[in-house]
Amino acid sequence: MGGKTTRNKLIAGNWKMNMSRQESIAFAEEFSRLYQPMAGVKTVICPPFVWLDMLSADKLPQQVELGAQNMAQEVRGAFTGEVSASMLVDAGCRYVILGHSERRQMGETDAVIREKTRLALLHNLIPIVCVGEREQERKNGQAQSTVLSQVRGSLADLEYTSEQMVIAYEPVWAIGTGNTASAADAEEMTSLIRSCLQEMAGYATASNTLILYGGSVTPDNARSLLEQPDVDGALVGGASLDPTKFCSIITSGRSH
Ligand code: PGA
Repeated sequence: MGGKTTRNKLIAGNWKMNMSRQESIAFAEEFSRLYQPMAGVKTVICPPFVWLDMLSADKLPQQVELGAQNMAQEVRGAFTGEVSASMLVDAGCRYVILGHSERRQMGETDAVIREKTRLALLHNLIPIVCVGEREQERKNGQAQSTVLSQVRGSLADLEYTSEQMVIAYEPVWAIGTGNTASAADAEEMTSLIRSCLQEMAGYATASNTLILYGGSVTPDNARSLLEQPDVDGALVGGASLDPTKFCSIITSGRSH
């Protein structure tokens, strides 16, 4: 599906369980020095929950949005250790990563991710819904069916506009391994996801929803991935911890 030129790029950094308070502050200072806002490229940083409040209190450039890495599937109550959608909004979040493969590995099913996505939408948080096949599934020729069933299961019967939804294709074998998907593989799967969205949500939503690629994105490979017509951005783990590398990836999102 075409329509690339109408979509912005989105570069999201997923810090995972990294960065002390001091490291977060040092990152924010250095990043603010290096960051140059660019038309058509949005930037999101997803730190651990505990640093959200601190980073939202004007430590980052104002164009940069905050996201969380996970969210409870309940609204409030006796759920020890969980963090709700409304708390994330209060802490300054605009985005939330849902269904990351590291969470799926801990037992999150498509049904759980769907419920979290529903609650995120209800609270005006933009979910970054992650899907991606494991190495064995790719070897077995099941990469596409796995990803499609995750997209269908995680978004089943939900209503959203293209501005309210982001999807990230993250092949599990590419995450944290240095084994980036080829630009052609990233394009093949992001375009397939877009066709699936078209079936589920209609042409207009599908052609305007941002679909990211994630998995060992670096300053060296970002441009070739982001040049693909259906790759609208990147979800960056390791390289997002380094302000210089992350800024360089953001710059790669500039229109080609
Ligand atoms: P990586 O992580 O860039 O370190 O491979 C990506 C992710 O898990 O979102």
